[in-house]
Amino acid sequence: MIRETIQQSSRNITKSKTVLVTGGAGFIGSHLVRKLVEKGREVIVIDDLSSGSLENLSSLGLKPSDFEFKKIDLTNYSQILECLKEGDIVFHLAARIGGLKYLHGTENAEIAALQANLAIDANVFRASLEKRVEKIIYASSTAVYPLDSQYSAGAIFSEEDFLYQPEKQDPRFRFKMDIDPDGGYGLAKLLGEVQLSWMKNIKIAIARIFNVYGVNEPLDEKSHAISDLIRKAIDYPQKEFIIWGDGKQTRDYMYVSDCVDALVKLEEKISDYQPLPLILNIGSGKATSISELAEVIIKISGKNIKPKYDVQKPVGPISRTADIRKVKETLNWEPKVSLEEGLKRTFVWIQKKIT
Ligand SMILES: NC(=O)c1ccc[n+]([C@@H]2O[C@H](COP(=O)([O-])OP(=O)(O)OC[C@H]3O[C@@H](n4cnc5c(N)ncnc54)[C@H](O)[C@@H]3O)[C@@H](O)[C@H]2O)c1
Repeated sequence: MIRETIQQSSRNITKSKTVLVTGGAGFIGSHLVRKLVEKGREVIVIDDLSSGSLENLSSLGLKPSDFEFKKIDLTNYSQILECLKEGDIVFHLAARIGGLKYLHGTENAEIAALQANLAIDANVFRASLEKRVEKIIYASSTAVYPLDSQYSAGAIFSEEDFLYQPEKQDPRFRFKMDIDPDGGYGLAKLLGEVQLSWMKNIKIAIARIFNVYGVNEPLDEKSHAISDLIRKAIDYPQKEFIIWGDGKQTRDYMYVSDCVDALVKLEEKISDYQPLPLILNIGSGKATSISELAEVIIKISGKNIKPKYDVQKPVGPISRTADIRKVKETLNWEPKVSLEEGLKRTFVWIQKKIT
C-alpha cells in the first residue's frame, strides 16, 4: 500500500532536489525517510548503523529501491564530503544518543557524547559548506536549554528564552544568557546550533526536539522511559513494575509521526523565512508525569498492575516542556496523535518485537 502511495505522489513531482538524511536508519530518521519517499523525494540515507538498522526502514514498508543507502561513519570527513553535491538538502539527524542508562552518566559517557557529536556535526557542516548545499535541517534538542531551570516544577521553554542576538556590526549571533546545557550531549547540540548560525550562505533550520516516542524507538540500553515502562507492563507479573523516582517528574512527549511532519514542514518553510536560522521547538506543549504515563500504559496492558517507586534511581530534570506557540504559527502545524493513541501503537509494536 505504501508503494502505491509513493508512486502516486512521485507523479506529482516535477523538480526535486536530492535529500540526504544522516541517521536515516535510526528511530526518527527512518520515519522521516518514509515520509520523504512518500512525498516523491529522491532520498539518500547516510548511517553507520551503529544504533540504527536497515530493518527500521523495511519494517516501515520501505524497499531498498525506494532510497539510496550509504554506510558512512560521519566522524570521517572525506566520506561525507564524497556524498554531498551543490544544492543538496541535508536533514542532519545522526548523533550519538544517551538513554536511561546515561542519566547522571559517568564522566566518560559525557565526554564520549560530546566528542563524537562535535566531530559528526563539524564534518557534516564543513562538507556542506564546501559543497554548497542549499539547506540544512538540524535535529537539536531540548538538552540545549538551561539545566538549572529544569530542576524546578513547571519549566516551560520558549525559543525566545534563549535566542541569539544579532549585532548590527557583526553578522554572527550572540547568546542572550549564560549557557547551561544538559551534559556533553546538550553542549554538542548547542555548539552545533552556534556553528549553523554562522553559516550565512546555507538556509538553516534548527529543530529543538523534545521527547519523541513510537515505533522503532530503541529497546536496548538507549531505551527511554516509555519503552521501559511498556516492557515492564508486558513482563508483569513475572517482573515487578518499578517506576524510577517518585513519578512526579514531567516530560513533553510527542509521537514520532508528529515530529516528522514538523521536520518536513520546516524544510519547506525555510526558503521564505527571515531572519535565518529558523529555530523552533518541536514538542507536544504538554507536561506529562511518569506516573500519568504509567497509568495509561497499565490501562492499555489490561493488567491489574500496582506500580512500585524506587526513589534511589536517577530521574534527570524534574520538568521540561516546550512552548509550541512559535512552531504552530510558523509551520501551521500541531501534534495530531494523542498520548493514548501513540502509546497504544508503541505498545503493540513492542509486544510484537519482544514476544
Ligand atoms: N528521540 C528523541 O526523543 C530526540 C529528542 C531530541 C533530539 N533528538 C535528536 O534527533 C536525532 C535522531 O534521534 P533518534 O532518537 O532517532 O536516535 P537514533 O540513535 O535512533 O538515530 C541516530 C542515528 O545516527 C546514526 N549514527 C550515530 N553515529 C553515527 C556516525 N558516526 N556516522 C553515521 N551515522 C551515525 C545511528 O546509527 C542512528 O541510526 C538525533 O540527532 C537526536 O539527538 C532526538
